[in-house]
Amino acid sequence: MLSNSVGFGVIGCGVIAPTHCDAIKDAPNAHLVAVFDIDQARAQKMGERYDVPFYTSQADFLAQPGLDAVNILLPSGFHATVGAAVAAAGKHLLCEKPIDVTVENALKLIEACEAAGVKLGVISQHRFAPDIIKVKQAIDSGEFGPLVLGEASTKWYRSQQYYDSGEWRGTKALDGGGALMNQGVHYIDLLQWLLGPVESIKAEIRTRTHNIEVEDLAIAILRFANGALGSITGSTAVFPGLPETLAIHGEDATALIEKDILKGFYSKASLGEVPSYGLSPRELKEREKPLPASPPLPTPYALHTAQIADFAAAILEDRAPAVTGRDALVPLEIILAIYRSAAENREVKLDEFK
Ligand SMILES: NC(=O)c1ccc[n+]([C@@H]2O[C@H](COP(=O)([O-])OP(=O)(O)OC[C@H]3O[C@@H](n4cnc5c(N)ncnc54)[C@H](O)[C@@H]3O)[C@@H](O)[C@H]2O)c1
Repeated sequence: MLSNSVGFGVIGCGVIAPTHCDAIKDAPNAHLVAVFDIDQARAQKMGERYDVPFYTSQADFLAQPGLDAVNILLPSGFHATVGAAVAAAGKHLLCEKPIDVTVENALKLIEACEAAGVKLGVISQHRFAPDIIKVKQAIDSGEFGPLVLGEASTKWYRSQQYYDSGEWRGTKALDGGGALMNQGVHYIDLLQWLLGPVESIKAEIRTRTHNIEVEDLAIAILRFANGALGSITGSTAVFPGLPETLAIHGEDATALIEKDILKGFYSKASLGEVPSYGLSPRELKEREKPLPASPPLPTPYALHTAQIADFAAAILEDRAPAVTGRDALVPLEIILAIYRSAAENREVKLDEFK
């Protein structure tokens, strides 16, 4: 390995692959060395586009000189099995979300990486958004006071054609779930990262408008260990698709986030004490200080670039990456608890997954 740059290869040359290849090229401490897909045309297209060797054999790909780390961009239910083979070959692993679709498989992957002595990171790129980091820092510094309520909502639209575009999409075995496991997982991860451990969940799910094996509509109520309550709304059946939102409320502050951008931040520190009936919209407007504008991201894949740069730094500095395999188990367990609660019509404790 070079002393200042990690050689990355990509397994899976589908929809998300250009995001990773562009991000690797942009990261100051990473370079792309090869790509691999079992589909010859996809592998070749990506290899030619990024001017790197392309492979259709996993063994040949893993033997590529200069390959230090591998990004797993496969149907979600293949992450752990392919990932374990990559780890056994001594390569560090950055896996797309979700880590896998069952806790058993996810643990096997974590243990395989530990046994091989390689790093495991899992993509949760929204944790790298500047405004999300600001909110995390404000919570950690105590500016929110005791947390009261957190709401994560991902109301997106996916056509039936989207689900029909890949054999694995919308299947229990390989997508592992629907609107939550594939799409909602991002803001579910942010919610638990910001609010802390979830104790128990009650939920309802439906397959409302699609011909798929998994949910396209879900609502869950969460109890957090710190006493806060939360809600998760997830759908791919909301026309025409809306921006994902996150609302975090503490005794002393509120943050309203839309598509990773802070749209409102109200704190006792900036607004002062409020009267018994709270502030009217007019009073709020008068007291509110304009939020500093968030500079636009330099590229559409900048959050992946940030996470890949962190992962490369973790390898070069021999430290844990910002989002580890064990970190990624938590949103997976929350989603599986939602499915179990809906199926068994009862409150599910997260302890059941330990
Ligand atoms: N972080 C994000 O924002 C984001 C966005 C999209 C997708 N994803 C995740 O990325 C992963 C891939 O999603 P996608 O939409 O790119 O899927 P896709 O179906 O477009 O691509 C998957 C590719 O994997 C290849 N493949 C399948 N099995 C293989 C194997 N055993 N070895 C080598 N190649 C194999 C397929 O031929 C295909 O080209 C999923 O886990 C998904 O959840 C993440």
